[in-house]
Order: sequence, then structure tokens, then C-alpha cells
Amino acid sequence: MDQAQSLRELVSDRNAGQKPLRVIAVTSGKGGVGKTHVSCNLAVLAARAGRRVLVLDADLGLANADIVLGVAPHYHLGHLLEASASLDDILAEGPEGVRILAASSGVQELTHLDDAQKLRLVTALDAIEDRFDLVIIDCGAGIGDNVLFFAGAAQEALLVITPEPTSLTDAYATVKVLSQQAGVEHFAVLVNSAPTGAHGREVFGKLTSVTDRFLTARLTFLGHIPRDENVQRALMAQRPVVELFPRSPYSRALQDISRDLLGRPSPPSLQGGLKFLWQRLQHETVRA
Ligand SMILES: Nc1ncnc2c1ncn2[C@@H]1O[C@H](COP(=O)(O)OP(=O)(O)O)[C@@H](O)[C@H]1O
Ligand SMILES: [Mg+2]
Repeated sequence: MDQAQSLRELVSDRNAGQKPLRVIAVTSGKGGVGKTHVSCNLAVLAARAGRRVLVLDADLGLANADIVLGVAPHYHLGHLLEASASLDDILAEGPEGVRILAASSGVQELTHLDDAQKLRLVTALDAIEDRFDLVIIDCGAGIGDNVLFFAGAAQEALLVITPEPTSLTDAYATVKVLSQQAGVEHFAVLVNSAPTGAHGREVFGKLTSVTDRFLTARLTFLGHIPRDENVQRALMAQRPVVELFPRSPYSRALQDISRDLLGRPSPPSLQGGLKFLWQRLQHETVRA
């Protein structure tokens, strides 16, 4: 059986079954707004609440997921795609059993894989659907091909913004492109570095006053996180804030957000875990 045919069979098998895997893409307009810290600390809190969690690090920003979680992965997704490492090799283990898959370094545009690479990726994703309950994708800022690829594969988008005016204009551009080009129609918005909930809502209101006028995407307010110097301290120690400083303002705020997020059901119209990714790969395979 040739590789293209194996891939088609694997994809159609997968599309027949549906698993309750939940996939959340963490996105932002500009970099440096706190996505990686949010992704990693949410992952640790979800793991503590009993979920089997994978952080997919697709961000090339300031502090990467491995540093925030304090692990040193030897391999990344590029090794899997070139067949020099297995899925087990590339899944590094962090605090509370959180697994990290580095997809940011050494990876070409995922929209330009050959059949052998797609087969390896789809096989790995198949195993991921069985092993995890929650995948958090630290997407990276902006709207490059890989961000569109991953965000389009997720069921839910979490958008991190800050009160800075440039964060808002860049967030608007991201919502526009992700909704129009990757089909992401709902964003849960988290306002980082907002001193109070009221301030967070005010910043959220500024963004929705523009998105409501010009875009069809729907935005909801997920919560706010204050500025907290413990974030920097935890980063220096290479430990997650929620683990090192569980009673800090940052950790308390994120605990509320995590409870809310994990307590919400997945969007009902979008079950099926990595379904969109399968469909996209299938589409490309059929076209090829
Ligand atoms: N609530 C916060 N309070 C203080 N510092 C923060 C907070 N959130 C993030 N930071 C700091 O801001 C910087 C960028 O955070 P990071 O999570 O790497 O952002 P991104 O992934 O969006 O680029 C880091 O130095 C981090 O320690
Ligand atoms: Mg980052």
C-alpha cells in the first residue's frame, strides 16, 4: 500500500469515530502579552484537576513552554516528521505529568508537508487523541501559516489581550484573519495585566465595540489576570507560577479562570477533537 493510500485510510477511519478530546488554541495579536504563561499554568491546573494534558508549543516568542514548565525536551516535532524520533521521544514530561510537544523549532510550514511526513503527523495525532483529554496549543502571535493551521484545528480559541492600545488593534486583526481564513468563530478573551475585573471588562468592551461592528466572530469575556512580579520570579526559577506561588494574585486569578473554562462544556457543534485537522489533511491528500 503506498503512503498516500495509508494516509487516506487512516484519515477516514479517524473521521468515523469521535473522541471527547478538547483542543484549545491560545492566541494573541502581538507577542509578549502572556500567552505562554497562560498556556502552561492552565495546563498545570487542568492536570491537577485530573485531566491528561498536552501542551503543544507552537510559539517562537519570548519564553517558550519548556522554560516556563522547566523541562528540557531533546526532540521536537521536526524530528518526528523526518522519522528520527518517535512520539514517545518527543513528548517531554513536565510538572503534574503535563506533556510538552515542541512544534515551534525546526518545523517547516505544516501546510507544505509531503505524504510521508503527513502520514507520520496523522499517526502521531491519532495516538494523541487516545492519550490525552485536553490539548492546549500555545499558538504564537500573529497569523502565520502554522498559527492558521493549529488554530483552525482547535475547537476553541482563547485570545489573550492586554490594556495596551497596540495589543487591541493587533488582537482585532488576529480575530479577523482567524475567523475569515481558519473558520474560528468564537473567542474566549482573557485580559492579562488588568488590575481589576472591572478594568478587564472595560478593555474587553473596547475590543468588542470594534469586532461587533465589523466581524461576525463572537467574543466572550473569560476573565482578567493582574500584573504580578511572581511571574518573573517563577520564570527565573523555571517553575510554573501556579506551582511555585499558588496563593499569588496571578495563580488565584488563573484558578478562577481554569475552573470556569474546565467547567464549561466544549462547543456542542464542534465535537470530535482534532477533527478539523484530519479533515484538512484529508482534503489536501485527496487534492494531491
Ligand atoms: N500577569 C503578569 N504579570 C507580570 N508579568 C507577566 C504577566 N504575564 C506575563 N508576564 C511576563 O511577560 C513576558 C511575556 O510573557 P509570555 O507568556 O512569554 O508572553 P507571550 O507568550 O504572549 O509572548 C514574560 O517575561 C512574562 O514573565
Ligand atoms: Mg510565548
